[in-house]
Amino acid sequence: MKDIIIALDGHSACGKSTLAKAMAKELKYIYVDSGAMYRAVTYYAMKHGLVKSGEIIDPKLIIDQLSNINISFNYNSSTGKSETFLNGSNVEEIIRTIEVSQFVSEVSKIKEVREKLVEFQQQLGKNKGVVMDGRDIGTTVFPDAKLKLWITANNEIRVARRYKELLEKGYKVSLEDVQENVKQRDYEDSHRKESPLAKAEDAIVLDNSFLTKTETLKKAIKLAKEAQS
Ligand code: DC
Repeated sequence: MKDIIIALDGHSACGKSTLAKAMAKELKYIYVDSGAMYRAVTYYAMKHGLVKSGEIIDPKLIIDQLSNINISFNYNSSTGKSETFLNGSNVEEIIRTIEVSQFVSEVSKIKEVREKLVEFQQQLGKNKGVVMDGRDIGTTVFPDAKLKLWITANNEIRVARRYKELLEKGYKVSLEDVQENVKQRDYEDSHRKESPLAKAEDAIVLDNSFLTKTETLKKAIKLAKEAQS
């Protein structure tokens, strides 16, 4: 069995990261959450006053700061999870808030932000044995990935899952806010100029609307084993 790159792409809240993490665990691969990188840059921009009142003040201000943004992932042995660090601080929780979600698609449109993060993602995948989830992994980051999955689920199910997840984490959000955010991000991510969210031609569609997490994982692992052989 050879180590391969597995690319998982799809719309917001369709279960990509849950599946990617579970696949990496099962295959003993590294899991890379590319969305966390865009979220970390967005959080940096918010903290430094570069985005305000629902808008990026000037993309150039963010571009100028890119060399000061250092993102890394560290494994937390007590939770058994990989956590996102921004310039040495653990931002794993704060980057998942709805406030960051509201700005992230705007920040992700910036060409220079994408270039920096795509380079980092390619570096993390250079030794293979990686499961990476995002929007452009199978199209731009690893167009030659041995296995590409396009994860999908119906809209209502996606919104309900994300709403539940945020409530469980203790965030006070309304169902309407989550609905609006998912809809807005899907639109922005699919319509941006730079590497928009799109299904790679050779990606295999995995619709998990009516599958349990275990059923979805079983299907994905079967595909991964086939691709590894
Ligand atoms: O996967 P996520 O919801 O955490 O991603 C957050 C945002 O980051 C998503 O709305 C768009 C952006 N993103 C991207 O543009 N390209 C990626 N490969 C991953 C995420």
